[in-house]
Amino acid sequence: METANLSPSQKQALEPGAEKIILDCDTGHDDAVAILLAVGNPKIDLLGVTTIGGNAELEKVTYNSRAVLQEAQVFDVPVHKGCSRPLLTPLRPAAEVHGETGLDGVELPDPKDVPLQEGHAVNWIIDTIMNSDPKTITLVATGPLTNIAMAARLEPAIVERVKRVVLMGGGVYEANSTPVAEFNIWTDPDAAKIVFELPWDVTMIGLDTTHQALCLPEIQQRIEENGGEVGQFMSGLMDFFRLAYQENQDFQNPPVHDPCTIAYIIDPSVVKTRRCAVDVENQPGLTFGETVADMRGPADPTSRTQVTLDLDFEKFWDIVEDAIVRINEKKQESA
Ligand code: BDR
Ligand code: CA
Repeated sequence: METANLSPSQKQALEPGAEKIILDCDTGHDDAVAILLAVGNPKIDLLGVTTIGGNAELEKVTYNSRAVLQEAQVFDVPVHKGCSRPLLTPLRPAAEVHGETGLDGVELPDPKDVPLQEGHAVNWIIDTIMNSDPKTITLVATGPLTNIAMAARLEPAIVERVKRVVLMGGGVYEANSTPVAEFNIWTDPDAAKIVFELPWDVTMIGLDTTHQALCLPEIQQRIEENGGEVGQFMSGLMDFFRLAYQENQDFQNPPVHDPCTIAYIIDPSVVKTRRCAVDVENQPGLTFGETVADMRGPADPTSRTQVTLDLDFEKFWDIVEDAIVRINEKKQESA
């Protein structure tokens, strides 16, 4: 595993049994909050960040991921660059939601202490999983699923070896990119189809849940007041995100999708889950990119896929705020 040139850790001291995760993301505004939550909560052991073209082009989201780690002053989490485009379809970045840079609205710190690691993200994901004990690593995906599908095709043994996959994507009843499809799945439905069909445990945290993770002004104010510099950084991101959602999606406040994945790992009671079969439509046509969850009849406890519906709003935001406060305190200590 390539970890050269990484400075000492500013991560939180981990709790025993902290969950080891790899975060595969296309860092826009909500991915940024997912990164902050992953480095700011002692129950999460963030092994690395891997990047995927999605909200913006690969170079931009990779820079953004490094800049968010720089903002948190976490220098020992390796960042690897992954695939620049979906398997079969062209990349269609979401500039209307995340701006041209993918992370418009704040001045990003120069990520000088968070070097980009050598080696492709897909190879790093495989090596990291194959060199760890079986069932100890959770793959978290908050962007299109291209890297994850590629890794599973290149080294099928990872499918047995990972603990589980937790992803933000899709929706049971809700959609955003088209009347029936969510952005991450719609961007690369072929990769998503592969991921949902493989025999590993997949938790799909879709729009039904994440549209409830609204950053209300009072939540933002709390984070800004209690989170110091880091709280202000997040608040700046939320200001831009709110306007974008008001202008493009008819939301009053922005849904902060991606950290719902990490919050679920930290405290599973933050969402309600239901085990059921999920398939993805990857054929051209009206339903391209739709996740089809079988909600008929009672839940199927034997299903290896599960979806989430409700979110415990208060619990979710308490978890996010706690992480921001902790990161800021650590940052101040080392200043
Ligand atoms: C998802 O799409 C992206 O814009 C967000 O980062 C999130 O992962 C929501 O549909
Ligand atoms: Ca994302």
